[in-house]
This record gives sequence, structure tokens and C-alpha cells, in this order.
Amino acid sequence: MKYTALVLPLAGLASATPLAHAVDSTTESSPLRFRFRAGHLPSQPHARGVQKKDVVVSNAVPMRKVTNAGGNNALRSVWKQPLHKTFADGWDLTAETNTTTPAARLRFLIHNQYIVPIQIDDQELQVTVDTGSSDTWVVQSNFSCFDPDVGQIGSEFCSFGPVFNGTFKYGSVPDVSSFALSFSNGEYIGGAAGYDDVTIAGLTVKKQQILLANEAMWAGDGVTSGYLGLGYPLGTQVFSSSDPTYAYPGSPTHRKYDPVFTSMYKQGLVDPVFSIAMNRTSGEGWLAFGGLPPVEHEDDYARAAIRPIEIDNSPATKTENTYYTIVPDGFVFGNLNTSNLTFSNPTWTADFNDTKPSQFPVILNSGLPFSFLPRSVVLPYVLQFSAPVGRFGGQYWAPCNSTVPPFGVTLSGGKTIYLAEADILQQEFTQVQSYEGLPVDLCLIAFMDTLPDGPFYLGDNFLNNFVSVFDVGNSEMRFYPLK
Ligand SMILES: *[C@@H]1O[C@H](CO)[C@@H](O)[C@H](O)[C@H]1NC(C)=O
Ligand SMILES: *[C@@H]1O[C@H](CO)[C@@H](O)[C@H](O)[C@H]1NC(C)=O
Ligand SMILES: *[C@@H]1O[C@H](CO)[C@@H](O)[C@H](O)[C@H]1NC(C)=O
Ligand SMILES: *[C@@H]1O[C@H](CO)[C@@H](O)[C@H](O)[C@H]1NC(C)=O
Ligand SMILES: *[C@@H]1O[C@H](CO)[C@@H](O)[C@H](O)[C@H]1NC(C)=O
Ligand SMILES: *[C@@H]1O[C@H](CO)[C@@H](O)[C@H](O)[C@H]1NC(C)=O
Ligand SMILES: *[C@@H]1O[C@H](CO)[C@@H](O)[C@H](O)[C@H]1NC(C)=O
Ligand SMILES: *[C@@H]1O[C@H](CO)[C@@H](O)[C@H](O)[C@H]1NC(C)=O
Repeated sequence: MKYTALVLPLAGLASATPLAHAVDSTTESSPLRFRFRAGHLPSQPHARGVQKKDVVVSNAVPMRKVTNAGGNNALRSVWKQPLHKTFADGWDLTAETNTTTPAARLRFLIHNQYIVPIQIDDQELQVTVDTGSSDTWVVQSNFSCFDPDVGQIGSEFCSFGPVFNGTFKYGSVPDVSSFALSFSNGEYIGGAAGYDDVTIAGLTVKKQQILLANEAMWAGDGVTSGYLGLGYPLGTQVFSSSDPTYAYPGSPTHRKYDPVFTSMYKQGLVDPVFSIAMNRTSGEGWLAFGGLPPVEHEDDYARAAIRPIEIDNSPATKTENTYYTIVPDGFVFGNLNTSNLTFSNPTWTADFNDTKPSQFPVILNSGLPFSFLPRSVVLPYVLQFSAPVGRFGGQYWAPCNSTVPPFGVTLSGGKTIYLAEADILQQEFTQVQSYEGLPVDLCLIAFMDTLPDGPFYLGDNFLNNFVSVFDVGNSEMRFYPLK
């Protein structure tokens, strides 16, 4: 997701609704959070399949990285929107919202995304690979681009890639008049749900439900035209009503459907597993369906069960997976680790009777370039960099030549896997600040802190280090370190 776990449908957003309303609704929506309180979990990581050996498959599509440079052509006023409350609270931006310069806000939003080509009814489009959402959508030819300050503007200002020319091959979804996805950085798309054929990595999924956006508030990269949502059916965001009361997974108005990957294995095209490999240096990678991509990796892997975690006060999410959520044994950060920390509502551990208070859940999210973790991890970690470490625009920065303290995630069996220094202190994001009267080159530390009760994410700066296997059939993640 584009800085969002929070793809919240909005009230009353049929295409004719004024966008001012959309913006208000975005800021008022209740944030999506983990609720540990009632997250009763049957602990059965291997309940749904027979685990096979991971094999390299030919159904792999090359991924590449695009950088959204903060919108040379982009819709500028999106960046000026008040941040979603979660961001304001969790990322300590409340105090900065009124004072931060536009330049700093732009920097906050600059980011990389991994993209792949897909074909919808034989038209090729580039889409963001997002394990943190479930809908696949592209922008439609006659879409309207909105600026929250001035209303409708030329579609070029939304900076999408090529648009989809046409409409649904198999018609619209009955019972769903429109959809609306609002992103917590102020972006928004709305449109219709219908069916078409979707081809990716040489596999054609017939009569797949997709979304076509016909309106947008978007700060695009000029390349991508939408998203490929690889999350679970419960994470889809299509509702038969725009009543926000029911804007949660599994609600009476939720029109849950099988996303592209779910349809792919249900149609018998592949085994229920996909994998992602990224290369931080070349900006290239692979998305493979049914097995592993053709990438050199260590044989030895670390594993963790994918577990349902209650989100958004939704009972359905307690027992059915929504996203790729794991509960690591712990985190190692510099000289410290999480073993003596306590996270979350204490009743969480009562529900998860196989975990300790020092554990917390994280979502594997390929749509986020960075990772979002509790402040009680991020702050003591960044303080182990050489001074002057600073917090600007809600992000932590350290001297670019700092020694990077180790950062690792401990998974099943006590196996700790580490991130490369280049994924922690990101040399491509720099700024100069004055320290004791002297200019210092600072680089971005790719960990953001967030609300104490999450949601927490491991983004691309984690995924860059592994062939990551999303084994849906066995509800298990496997991470093979890259060679
Ligand atoms: C943990 O919870 C599961 C499912 O609720 C239950 O089957 C199991 O017996 C519990 N284990 C312990 C040690 O209480
Ligand atoms: C920011 O400005 C708005 C409008 O002027 C005001 O309502 C709000 O309280 C200010 N926030 C902070 C944190 O100063
Ligand atoms: C865009 O075109 C499609 C198909 O021709 C049509 O169904 C839809 O209403 C149009 N949207 C707008 C905003 O004009
Ligand atoms: C849709 O048509 C426009 C105008 O001809 C073209 O530029 C664009 O590439 C087409 N989109 C796709 C996905 O082929
Ligand atoms: C990543 O890309 C770099 C530069 O192209 C290359 O040297 C390196 O071998 C690649 N790494 C992997 C694991 O493929
Ligand atoms: C965590 O730190 C404790 C000491 O505070 C140490 O005993 C333990 O081995 C560490 N665990 C890991 C996984 O590093
Ligand atoms: C955890 O252990 C570290 C290292 O011993 C110590 O600095 C830190 O204060 C401890 N944290 C808590 C919450 O006890
Ligand atoms: C980083 O660079 C600064 C300025 O050139 C220098 O003073 C400092 O010693 C360097 N630090 C490290 C850890 O190399």
C-alpha cells in the first residue's frame, strides 16, 4: 500500500460527491488497528495443505522499482492534506503538520515501489505489487482527476501511467454501485467493480473481479496505473453500501471476493504459494506464482506462521487471514532485543496462549518501502547510531557515514535473520542539517515508529534481503536469505 494499511471505504462517495467531503472523511475515519483484546486464535499453522518442497517455477514475472520523486508533475495539493490521524499520532507529526515545509512533506512521501506488468483483457499496464492490500485496480481512460484545493483538474496531473481503455468484459458486480479507496496520505480513488480476464506471469485468470477507477486524487509516478493486491479475500474493500458503520472486513455489506491470486490457485493454475525477490542494488526482482523465482539463495530458511489478527474491530478477522501477518519471536536491534520489553494489551497473550508479552504482530507489506515498528524498538535502536541522529518530517535520520547497528528479526526456532546495512540507513535519501554549526550529511533510517498497538509492518527494506515465500496453502512465511 502506498503508505497505507488503511484503505478505508468512505461514506457517500459516489462519483458525483464533492471531493472536499472525501478529504474530511479520510481524516475522520477510525484508524485501522490491531485489536489484541479479542483476538482468539486457533494455533494451526499447517492446517490447510501439505507442505511441498520449494521449487523454482517458470511462472515468474520480472519486477522493477520505480521511484516517485515526490511529484514533479504530481498533484501537489495531495501532499498538503492533513495526514491521517494514525500518522499524525503515531509518527509524531502532529506538531509538525503546520510547520513542516512543503519540501519536507514531499520528502516524507518520496518512495520506491516494486511494479510488474499485468494484462487486463490484453491491455498491458504496470501495477504496484502490494501484499498489504487485496484489490486489484487500474485507472480507466475517462477518469477524472481531482485536486482537493481546486476540484477537477487535467487528468495528467494525477500522473498515472497508461490508462485502461475500455470497460469490464463480463460486466459489473451486481449489488455494488461503486467503490472508494482512501489512502492515508490523502490519496483517493473511486470507481466501479466488475469482471475481466487478468494475465500475469503467463497465467490467465478468467473472469476475475477487478476495480476500474474513474476518479482519483493521486500523486502518481507516471508509470503505474494501479495496484495488484495480493492479500486475502477478507482484505478486499468492496461494499454494497457506503455506510461507514459497515466499512470493515466481513461486515454485512462487505462484498468479499477472491482476489487475483486466490482465483489463480482456485482455478487450478498454480499451487497456493507465491514468492517475491527484490534486489535493492539493481532495483529489479521477481514475483513468482506456484513456487520460487530463478534467484540464487541460501538453502536454509527461517519460517513463521501466518496468523489471523483482529483488525478494525472485525470478528471475521479473528479466525480468517486478512493480510500476511506473523508474530516474530522477537527483534534484535543493536545491543538490545525485545526479550525484556512488554507490548500491547496484556490480554493479547491470553488469547495467543503460545506467545509472550514481548512479542507483537507484523504484516509483510511489499507496498511499503520502509518498516513501521513500535517506538520502544525504533527509538532505542536509532539512538545507537552515531550522533547527530535527528527526527525530521516524522522520520529518523543519521549521518550517512554512521556505523549501522545490526537489526534482525527472530523467527521460529529462535533463528534470527538480519537486514543489510543498505536497507537500514538508506543512502539514496539524504538531507543536510546543521549540527553544532557544521553541515552534516544525513541519510534516512528506514524504520518508522508508530502507535503502540500498531499496525506494524515489515516493508521492502526487510523483503529486499530474502526470497520471501507466501505459502497461503500452509499459512506460513518462509524467508531464504539471498546469496
Ligand atoms: C491454547 O489455545 C488453543 C486454542 O484456543 C488450545 O487448543 C490449547 O489447548 C491452548 N494451549 C494451552 C497450553 O493452554
Ligand atoms: C494546525 O492548524 C490548524 C488550522 O490552522 C489548527 O486547527 C490546528 O490546531 C493546528 N495544529 C497544530 C498542531 O498546531
Ligand atoms: C467511463 O467510461 C465507462 C465505459 O465507457 C463508463 O461506464 C463510465 O461511466 C465512464 N466514467 C465517467 C466518469 O465518465
Ligand atoms: C489507451 O489509449 C491511449 C491513447 O491511445 C494510449 O496512450 C494508452 O497506452 C492506452 N492504454 C493501454 C493500456 O494500452
Ligand atoms: C543484484 O543486482 C546487482 C547489480 O545488478 C548484482 O550485482 C547482484 O548480483 C544482484 N543480486 C542478486 C542476489 O541477484
Ligand atoms: C536478548 O538479550 C538478552 C539479555 O538482555 C540475552 O540474554 C538474549 O540472549 C538476547 N536474545 C537474542 C535473541 O539476542
Ligand atoms: C532491557 O535491557 C536493556 C539492556 O540490558 C536495558 O538497557 C533496558 O533498559 C531494558 N528494558 C527494560 C524495559 O527493562
Ligand atoms: C563521518 O564524517 C564526518 C565528517 O566528514 C567525520 O567527522 C566523522 O568522523 C565520520 N564518522 C565516521 C563514523 O566515519
